[in-house]
Amino acid sequence: MHPWDCGRGEIANSSLEESARQLLFLLSFRDCVWERGREREMDRKRVLVVGGTGYLGQHLLQGFLEMEGKPYDVAFTHHSSPPQKLLDAVSPCPAFPVDLQTGQGFDTISATFGQPDVVINCAALSIPRACETDPDAAMATNVPSSLVKWLSSTGNGSTLLIHLSTDQVYEGEKSFYKEDDETIPVNVYGKSKVAAEQFIQSNCSNFAILRSSIIYGPQTISPVTKSLPIQWIDSVLSRGDKVEFFHDEFRCPVYVNDVVATILTLTKNWTTDGRQIQLVLNVGGPDRVSRFQMAETVAAVRGYDISLIKAVSSSSVNRGVRSPADISMDISRLVQTLNITPIPFIDGVKLTLGPAAGS
Ligand SMILES: NC(=O)c1ccc[n+]([C@@H]2O[C@H](COP(=O)([O-])OP(=O)(O)OC[C@H]3O[C@@H](n4cnc5c(N)ncnc54)[C@H](OP(=O)(O)O)[C@@H]3O)[C@@H](O)[C@H]2O)c1
Repeated sequence: MHPWDCGRGEIANSSLEESARQLLFLLSFRDCVWERGREREMDRKRVLVVGGTGYLGQHLLQGFLEMEGKPYDVAFTHHSSPPQKLLDAVSPCPAFPVDLQTGQGFDTISATFGQPDVVINCAALSIPRACETDPDAAMATNVPSSLVKWLSSTGNGSTLLIHLSTDQVYEGEKSFYKEDDETIPVNVYGKSKVAAEQFIQSNCSNFAILRSSIIYGPQTISPVTKSLPIQWIDSVLSRGDKVEFFHDEFRCPVYVNDVVATILTLTKNWTTDGRQIQLVLNVGGPDRVSRFQMAETVAAVRGYDISLIKAVSSSSVNRGVRSPADISMDISRLVQTLNITPIPFIDGVKLTLGPAAGS
């Protein structure tokens, strides 16, 4: 063999060994990165928003997706077809069809998305008049028995269920209800919500029930069809006609981002410290306002003629459903437990109708 050939062979052998060493190093480095990625993936908590197509649900999805570092895998459910605009905006969040009345759809979520760590139930028949006309549908939708059954059949009872309830669980005969006051609903919607609360308290070990007042704020990514309270007042006042508003019906309207902040904080606390909770919270704004005062505030923000707003008693109109008179709420538990201070009504109205609202 020519010495030159021999030299070439040695060179070839040593560079082959070096290449093999480098390859081995790269392979083990890749496996290590892959393994770490897998661990991180397995560490990521899964959040499911039930009723993600509704008013609160859409704002909530937006809230989760805007969180710094996007720490959660988020999915949502819908009942009718999900609007394409929402699907595009929250991509790659998976969307699942679910019927709360039958429980159809939950098994597919387990199979493809996996067991969620946190479920936020925003799905409901949420219009009191609709509940009054169809009490069976109201009960079957608003009492989340299929959802709770699914959670207890697939998990180890550790999923946190955050359930949206309402101020309409209260009778409305006094001001500033506390969470421990007796619940005496006066209409089917309120009754279905009380039944839901009782069902959850008897069948779940890890839950937060949020008794929300009227939720107001900007329109959603894909506009919801139901009328939004501030936008509705704005549209009737903008016509310049005289309009009647109730002076004797009081609520603590809450800005939608404050409800979202409440839910995000509960989620963060649970996914960080893992302590089970059994919590009932009033979620309202800091101001007790009548419908008349709500209209006055909108008029003041928009510069409309306040003399067009006429104060009338709620007893002067038959709305086809009983509406509690004063269900203003004491929100000190919300403030103390989660350190959340909802914004004043006038500030929320400005944000809702201001140029940044896009409504
Ligand atoms: N908005 C308020 O002022 C207010 C005040 C107090 C309490 N709350 C409570 O807060 C929660 C959210 O309210 P919201 O205003 O966001 O409600 P919403 O806009 O009426 O949305 C309702 C959601 O429920 C879903 N849904 C309806 N029937 C269903 C069924 N049979 N199975 C599964 N999903 C079903 C809808 O799905 P599709 O859109 O796909 O049909 C939608 O995503 C509700 O529990 C409500 O009672 C709301």
